[in-house]
Amino acid sequence: MRFDPWNPDFVAHPYRVYEELRRDAPVSYFEPTNQWLISRHADVNALLRDRRLGRSYLHVATHEEFGRPPEPEFQEPFWRVIRAGMLDVEPPVHTRLRRLVSKAFTPRMVESLRPRVHAIARDLVDTYVAKGGGDLIADVAEPLPVTVIAEMLGIPEQDRHLLRPWSSDICGMYELNPALEAQHTAVRAAEEFAAYLKALAAERRPRPGDDLISALTQVTELTEDELVGTCVLLLNAGHEATVNVTGNGWWALFRNPAELVRLREDRSLLPTAVEELMRWDTPLQMFERWVLEDIEVHGVRIPRGAEVALLFGSANRDQAVFDDPDRLDVGRADNPHISFGAGIHFCLGAPLARIELMESFGALLDRAATLELRQKPEWKTGYVIRGLRSLELTATG
Ligand code: HEM
Repeated sequence: MRFDPWNPDFVAHPYRVYEELRRDAPVSYFEPTNQWLISRHADVNALLRDRRLGRSYLHVATHEEFGRPPEPEFQEPFWRVIRAGMLDVEPPVHTRLRRLVSKAFTPRMVESLRPRVHAIARDLVDTYVAKGGGDLIADVAEPLPVTVIAEMLGIPEQDRHLLRPWSSDICGMYELNPALEAQHTAVRAAEEFAAYLKALAAERRPRPGDDLISALTQVTELTEDELVGTCVLLLNAGHEATVNVTGNGWWALFRNPAELVRLREDRSLLPTAVEELMRWDTPLQMFERWVLEDIEVHGVRIPRGAEVALLFGSANRDQAVFDDPDRLDVGRADNPHISFGAGIHFCLGAPLARIELMESFGALLDRAATLELRQKPEWKTGYVIRGLRSLELTATG
């Protein structure tokens, strides 16, 4: 098999191909997406921190100057929302936007949310176990992070069911060479989401409550587009990967039953187990960067205007960094995985994600005496954002 992100067999088992890439072709040109694939941990890590690359080039050049076609006009409402969030801008705008919300996500701040995260996780898991199990993704993995981030931002309870579909439609645009229909769906979702948030902000601005959207409406240096872009980013990034770590993580434990037993018997392993599950089956397999100034990697010159695809899933299995990398070891002590990224865009929500994952894995281990797989799960079609369609389990209390 070769690198083929549209092939379901590759999406299900990318790790042999990654191993070959790391050994034989750490930098390789991939024609179908016109990108350079980077597969070794040291290179992925270094390029994420290298300021000669960026998540965007629009702060230094136009599409034309970068040799890229103009974007189709119908995509304008999508990019308007996405490029107003910190993830798709570079300094100095990035610095300003990140600083505005970073206080809400410091380890100390999110630690104060732990009791609430704990209570939500316990409620969801109790209901799940009481009905004998079901789809873990729909019943626990999704509602936990969605509820937490929605409460932080102040999304009314009756509207929260809208968040998952909007997020998943928007994420369709992040897959490689998305189909035209997926692009239209993403644009529509971005438009609806933006309209919803503008209306909510208009309500909160004159009568701010004790939530993040209210707080952002009081920041005069933030444009309305930036407010919307920030909220869309926080709401989407705030749950999408966490859902997949929960699903992929449990599926990893079922494929490694001795590690599940080990974790059941020694709950003090939870912190290292969460890191290891994020490493072993990385939820976000790839991130892209634009080359803003010529670079050279292993003797290969990659010119300004090119795009690199950083293979996180491969970096996380690199034998140069991880001992016995294909082994799942819930007690792995030295684990510099790259799943939260590196450099200036390092995941803002990492401390919150860690708390959510520890609380949800902990609740399931505490409340379910047994958890059994009902059927082998299937992967969704996406490669970049890689997760299971569902995870059907039988649970006993
Ligand atoms: C296990 C779950 C999560 C994973 C694996 C994850 C992963 C990542 C990664 C890899 C990036 C950097 C992307 C790049 O450099 O191109 C990122 C950025 C970001 N993440 Fe997370 N994330 C998770 C959970 C969360 C949560 C719970 C939040 C809550 C707010 C969040 C908010 C963000 C934000 C705002 C950024 C953009 C930061 C910036 O551009 O400066 N993430 N995340």
